[in-house]
Amino acid sequence: MGSNQITPMKLFLLLTLLPLLLVTYPSPSHADLNNDKQALLQFAALVPHGPKVNWSAATPVCTSWVGITCSSDKSSVIELRLPGVGLRGPIPNNTLGKLDNLTTVSLRSNLLSGSLPSDLLSIPSLQFVYLQRNNLSGSIPSSLSPQLITLDLSFNNFEGRIPSSLQNLTHLNKLYLQNNSLTGSIPKLNLPSLKHLNLSNNHLNGSIPLTLKRFPNSSFEGNAGLCGPPLNQCSGVSPAPSPVYEVPPPPVTHHKKSSRRLSRGAIIAIAAGGAAVLFLLLLMVLLCCLRKKDNERSGVLKGKAFAAGRTEKPKEEFGSGVQEADKNKLVFFEGCSFNFDLEDLLRASAEVLGKGSYGTTYKAILEDGTTVVVKRLKEVVVGKREFEQQMDLIGRVGQHPNVIPLRAYYYSKDEKLLVYDYVPAGSLYARLHGSKDGEKPPLDWESRVKILLGAARGVAHIHSAGGGRFTHGNVKSSNILLSEDLDGCATDFGLAPLMSFPAVPPRTAGYRAPETIETRKITQKSDVYSFGVVLLELLTGKTPVQSPGRDEVADLPRWVQSVVREEWTAEVFDVELMRRQNIEEELVQMLQIAMACVSKVPDMRPDMGEVVRMIEDIRQSDSSSRLSPEGEGTSKSKVSEIQTP
Ligand SMILES: *[C@@H]1O[C@H](CO)[C@@H](O)[C@H](O)[C@H]1NC(C)=O
Ligand SMILES: *[C@@H]1O[C@H](CO)[C@@H](O)[C@H](O)[C@H]1NC(C)=O
Ligand SMILES: *[C@@H]1O[C@H](CO)[C@@H](O)[C@H](O)[C@H]1NC(C)=O
Ligand SMILES: *[C@@H]1O[C@H](CO)[C@@H](O)[C@H](O)[C@H]1NC(C)=O
Ligand SMILES: *[C@@H]1O[C@H](CO)[C@@H](O)[C@H](O)[C@H]1NC(C)=O
Ligand SMILES: *[C@@H]1O[C@H](CO)[C@@H](O)[C@H](O)[C@H]1NC(C)=O
Ligand SMILES: *[C@@H]1O[C@H](CO)[C@@H](O)[C@H](O)[C@H]1NC(C)=O
Ligand SMILES: *[C@@H]1O[C@H](CO)[C@@H](O)[C@H](O)[C@H]1NC(C)=O
Ligand SMILES: *[C@@H]1O[C@H](CO)[C@@H](O)[C@H](O)[C@H]1NC(C)=O
Repeated sequence: MGSNQITPMKLFLLLTLLPLLLVTYPSPSHADLNNDKQALLQFAALVPHGPKVNWSAATPVCTSWVGITCSSDKSSVIELRLPGVGLRGPIPNNTLGKLDNLTTVSLRSNLLSGSLPSDLLSIPSLQFVYLQRNNLSGSIPSSLSPQLITLDLSFNNFEGRIPSSLQNLTHLNKLYLQNNSLTGSIPKLNLPSLKHLNLSNNHLNGSIPLTLKRFPNSSFEGNAGLCGPPLNQCSGVSPAPSPVYEVPPPPVTHHKKSSRRLSRGAIIAIAAGGAAVLFLLLLMVLLCCLRKKDNERSGVLKGKAFAAGRTEKPKEEFGSGVQEADKNKLVFFEGCSFNFDLEDLLRASAEVLGKGSYGTTYKAILEDGTTVVVKRLKEVVVGKREFEQQMDLIGRVGQHPNVIPLRAYYYSKDEKLLVYDYVPAGSLYARLHGSKDGEKPPLDWESRVKILLGAARGVAHIHSAGGGRFTHGNVKSSNILLSEDLDGCATDFGLAPLMSFPAVPPRTAGYRAPETIETRKITQKSDVYSFGVVLLELLTGKTPVQSPGRDEVADLPRWVQSVVREEWTAEVFDVELMRRQNIEEELVQMLQIAMACVSKVPDMRPDMGEVVRMIEDIRQSDSSSRLSPEGEGTSKSKVSEIQTP
């Protein structure tokens, strides 16, 4: 056994033991815990509460106090959860604020009132705050923990402005302030990590900052004075909303002379530039016309809307390399009900779906309304016979409910096209990380497991049906498509042998097994590695693909290993998943499968069939344990629950 491998067993040990090993340096841990204990006892003494709060100086804090979670070395309290226990009145100063390793505070659905003490939300380690559904008032403190991920103060009586220090919270994912009495304008928050925002039902006014227009109407509704996208346009006469995001005023008038001289110069420049642009435009139109004639003469077809005379937007095109003589050489596979020929296909209107490692993919709508996906391969290095053999193999292997079938292909020297079924629900990548404009309905755990299981079955089928050596070769979340009932289907497989090897743009590098970089060989085990990365992607909500504005980590396996080793295991999981209770055990099991898949040594990875069985096992054990009442059956859980409304 390689000593550097994280096997499921070792991972299990890491999860349970490592946090203990971390506290090797001498630290006054007893003193810390005692401080926390005193602070909590004082809180309980000052705040009237129901009988459920059974804290007492005589019993151990970490093991017998309700609502308390300690760090694994038992040196400090890290979570305080007392939802709905009848806490009444103000939160006293110098009590909870002294819990200086607190990460989570949940006091939601109590009867707390008065203003928040300034020391609570500023605890530097604080990440999750659930104080919704109380009667808290006063203004929201502006001194906030820089680690905040969730801040839920909704359904209270907070008044005053939304603090602009929120802009500092680079990890903030969820900000819920709905149903308070907040006034003033919304500060200009430019937080790429912010995924959930609700400011509705307050008294906010002014225009919504452009950086927040990606959120839906319902994030802002119920504020009579708010305007701008996504709500109605601001009326032109409304006064400037707030100095926080006011546009710098235009140049003022006492510089009249210089600005006038400048503008004369500008006019001349613009005139000259304009003439040049006009000239260039004319030249381009001329060149275009000439080229079109040329093309027609040599009989090269274009796959685009034949908008002869029509004034449509220029459409994307494929198939410019198709030879006239080949018009009927579109090869269909058996069992395919499509009824079109190459000419129909080239006449279809097309739009680019994506540019991948192997070429560009288009959505093509034929004149009769049939929609297909056309993939235009670039840099195919094999000859026609080899190509056709591989196509036959792909066509045969594609007969499985979790595999997107190849329907037809076209081969010529200058153009290689593949035709697949169109899947309207899109890819797992888009569903998980959102489309470009940031809209993303949450994807719950059930759906994620279902998609994974489908995709795993698809890849396992590809491995078994194609003979021992056949590989998918390009497993990643954008190549897992979703059926209407959210089943995962594998696509884009079997193309690697056609290409020269490093057909790997940096965007896909995160899915590549480490050994393929040296051996330049894709194997079934390297597919398993890639699948493991997809698993991690679903668990963490992070993408191994470099793209601006997304929560990305270039090497997910190493990141997860380092977090699991050094921190708090719960932190690796997608916050969206942590809302659900009772799935911790499943999350950890799935993490173990993922870590086995991304073992550095290929032989240590399970094969796809085993992966399918392991995921199925999780499914079964979960449907039975789900029925047990809350609190039972989770004692072994390594991940602490995080409650949300
Ligand atoms: C306090 O309540 C919790 C859960 O309700 C229980 O596990 C714990 O044993 C109780 N502690 C004492 C000292 O009664
Ligand atoms: C809380 O205590 C701090 C100093 O410890 C003080 O500055 C602040 O005014 C107090 N806040 C309230 C609400 O009493
Ligand atoms: C707890 O907090 C203190 C003070 O903020 C810090 O020095 C210490 O390292 C923390 N302990 C842990 C286990 O995070
Ligand atoms: C909430 O607090 C306000 C004062 O801030 C008080 O008038 C009101 O009665 C309280 N509501 C409840 C339900 O306690
Ligand atoms: C937080 O933002 C304020 C301005 O809103 C700025 O003055 C302050 O330096 C920032 N603090 C940190 C820690 O970035
Ligand atoms: C939130 O505010 C809206 C509008 O004022 C109101 O209709 C709704 O009942 C409030 N919700 C709660 C739970 O108070
Ligand atoms: C915001 O909160 C309001 C009131 O609870 C709710 O109706 C609305 O759906 C929420 N919107 C979002 C985007 O969460
Ligand atoms: C959002 O509100 C604006 C104006 O109130 C309206 O024009 C638009 O249709 C709404 N959008 C949605 C998705 O409801
Ligand atoms: C917003 O409301 C405040 C009072 O709450 C007022 O002073 C300010 O002028 C208002 N701004 C706009 C743009 O209406």
